[in-house]
Amino acid sequence: MTTGSVKRRKVVVVGAGAVGSTFCYALAQSGLSDEIALVDRNEELAHGQVLDLVHGQPFFPPVSIHVGHPSDYADAELIVVTAGAPQRPGESRLQLLQKNAAVIRSIVADILAQNSSAVILIVSNPVDVMTHLAITLTGWARGRVIGSGTVLDSARLRHMLGTHCGVDVHNVHGYVLGEHGDSEFAAWSMTHVAGMQIDDYCRVCGHCTDWVSERGRIEQAVRDSAYHVIGYKGATCFAVALALVRIAAAILRGQNIVLTVSTMLDGEFGIRGVCLSVPCIVSAQGVEKILKSSLPEHELAALRSSAAKLMQAIQELKAES
Ligand SMILES: NC(=O)c1ccc[n+]([C@@H]2O[C@H](COP(=O)([O-])OP(=O)(O)OC[C@H]3O[C@@H](n4cnc5c(N)ncnc54)[C@H](O)[C@@H]3O)[C@@H](O)[C@H]2O)c1
Repeated sequence: MTTGSVKRRKVVVVGAGAVGSTFCYALAQSGLSDEIALVDRNEELAHGQVLDLVHGQPFFPPVSIHVGHPSDYADAELIVVTAGAPQRPGESRLQLLQKNAAVIRSIVADILAQNSSAVILIVSNPVDVMTHLAITLTGWARGRVIGSGTVLDSARLRHMLGTHCGVDVHNVHGYVLGEHGDSEFAAWSMTHVAGMQIDDYCRVCGHCTDWVSERGRIEQAVRDSAYHVIGYKGATCFAVALALVRIAAAILRGQNIVLTVSTMLDGEFGIRGVCLSVPCIVSAQGVEKILKSSLPEHELAALRSSAAKLMQAIQELKAES
């Protein structure tokens, strides 16, 4: 929406559960948006979350927060979909497939009915397959419908490496690629500490004696993170909400941030017709560029194997619907 010549940065958040409400809280604090509309099929929940949030308004930068309705999609800049069933303890993201596909179909139908020109950010799991479904249903340019992908997993990797090496997380750069799920992998070839490739850094670090087994342990711990957090507290919400704020910043402010969001590949890395995470430049139009870095053969094989697993899930969803 524009007021005079001033464009209002409006974000619609769909799903007022653990992820959606925590994202609203973090987004309100960030000062990135002028208006946040929170939609949930459980209207009482949306109402309660909004009341709790607006009571904090004296402590936030100015932002209007209200319960949302499908009509709010019409003038949104960004629609963040966190609606759907969450993972139960021990349940894989792919097991959520059918339940959440129905949710995505109904939300996309509402968005299309409003002729929205927003960017859609899918968070509901399995996020790569849900992003593929949303792109297919909208028929929009592939960059305009993206998934939160492994932005969270990459943050987890950076945290664990920083802790392991005894270096501030801000000096650690690394990316988790592929599925946001069990077939994801750490792209060690793209991992740097203080500007040094991780294997070179390891030689001057001295924090461990067997880096190869340590890095295997760290990679598995990243992969299992959600299972651990869900096992302890039933849901993940804080880190994912902050990851979503970073993606929202890239879009609302046109920041050209390199993020491993889930995006539809069309021949890049030899993969076509699957959404998964690779480093992308994210800006006002969503994914504006896929960075086709030259991965070593074993990482390329891991990416393609992750793509094959996701393609199988896409086929299963098609067969059952
Ligand atoms: N991509 C990621 O990194 C990531 C991280 C954490 C969670 N998730 C996923 O996010 C989703 C939400 O997780 P949560 O913990 O917030 O779950 P939750 O159960 O706390 O909240 C989900 C909310 O969605 C609402 N909802 C369901 N169907 C709806 C519909 N058709 N329209 C509007 N609202 C609807 C429910 O009423 C509920 O309030 C899950 O699929 C979860 O697996 C993704």
